[in-house]
Amino acid sequence: MFTAEQNEVLTRVGPGTPMGDLFRSFWIPFLLSSELEVDGPPKRVTLLGENLVAYRDTQNRVGLLDRHCAHRRADLFFGRNEDCGLRCTYHGWKFDITGQASELPAEPEGTPLIKDAKIKAYPTRESGDVIWTYMGPKEKEPKDIPLLDWTAVPPTHRAATKRLQENNWAQAVEGGLDSSHVSFLHRAFTQVQAATTTKEGHLVQRPIYMVKDTRPTFHIHKTDYGFAIGARRNASDTEYYWRLSQFLMPAFTIIPTAEGRPLTGHFWVPIDDYNCWAYTFSWHPQRPLTDEEWEEYGSGAQIHAAVDENFRPLANKDNTYKLDREMQRKENYTGIVGVGIQDMSVQESMGAITDRSKELLGASDAAIVYWRRLMIDQALQLKEKGKAPLGVETPKAYQVRSGAVLLPKEADPFKAMAQSIFLQPA
Ligand code: FES
Ligand SMILES: [Fe+2]
Repeated sequence: MFTAEQNEVLTRVGPGTPMGDLFRSFWIPFLLSSELEVDGPPKRVTLLGENLVAYRDTQNRVGLLDRHCAHRRADLFFGRNEDCGLRCTYHGWKFDITGQASELPAEPEGTPLIKDAKIKAYPTRESGDVIWTYMGPKEKEPKDIPLLDWTAVPPTHRAATKRLQENNWAQAVEGGLDSSHVSFLHRAFTQVQAATTTKEGHLVQRPIYMVKDTRPTFHIHKTDYGFAIGARRNASDTEYYWRLSQFLMPAFTIIPTAEGRPLTGHFWVPIDDYNCWAYTFSWHPQRPLTDEEWEEYGSGAQIHAAVDENFRPLANKDNTYKLDREMQRKENYTGIVGVGIQDMSVQESMGAITDRSKELLGASDAAIVYWRRLMIDQALQLKEKGKAPLGVETPKAYQVRSGAVLLPKEADPFKAMAQSIFLQPA
């Protein structure tokens, strides 16, 4: 039984909350690199419940500052981004990327006030087409950004997109850990014919097994960055079909894809307690993405969503995700187009913060139960003992992959994963 108190600890991320402090122990993505231009318009950013503003200065450095001006608290989103600083349009005070004012043009020349004219600023870095920040105590700042596999490949080999999801971050992550829903929510009726013969233990995606065996058993493998999940389905008398996913602290997942296809991962960034960004990453370790793959990502038909200029999906709760009952009868399980939008339709429908004390969990929820315990335990250990969360000190351990594989029944899937070049970079 999950209590209301546990639900609070798991979901709340504002300043001073245990889970908020856990997130503030990590470097986390907060914008796509493409969202900021040198000397271009600043962007409002809300992150872990804090109202901030970001801009890219003349020297291509990104500032992430308190949203409000040190003078009389005007919103710096209206500011002028000029000559290495963001200038408030009310009285012209100008702030560099450290949050320090460099000019107070309405004050007397040489005023000592300038040294107190400073606003909160967080450090930023860029890696893997996204901009990262660290919002925790200076003395605990991790030296390196997690070395996720998609940050290590050339830019031509990867794509990053994002979409707004209007519910708490935790129920979005739970969808990423829950391999059993794939048999239902993401089922396309045509997949039943998609089975082909197997190659000797090579990576395969066999949606047919997900339809034929809708009762996977879950196996957890602890790691330095979080854990790997093996969802096991029956394939034949001698083989199991394993879907191996990764959870990487604090909110990354890597999900299995088909042989030869790009890998896909997510990061759920808490905007506040009621909204999150779903960042979606696709990458191929060995080759550039193809035109067809880019086209697919842009279309919103699969894992990447079609969004408006504010990254809100075009199919959203206001238009019932463009649900088509005819499609639901004939083509797919939901009548909704796009894996990401299908996820969003059910996860937003649970309410902004689902009441986990009212759930009825089963065996298929094993990975989720494990994840909740881990997150709460890590957050409370940080709060009570100052213990750094799992993964903070091992950024290199993050370079892992995931996949779907047919294996003889006696094989250990996690050993097979460690030995597979596709699943685990050398
Ligand atoms: S409020 Fe920003 S300069 Fe006055
Ligand atoms: Fe899903």
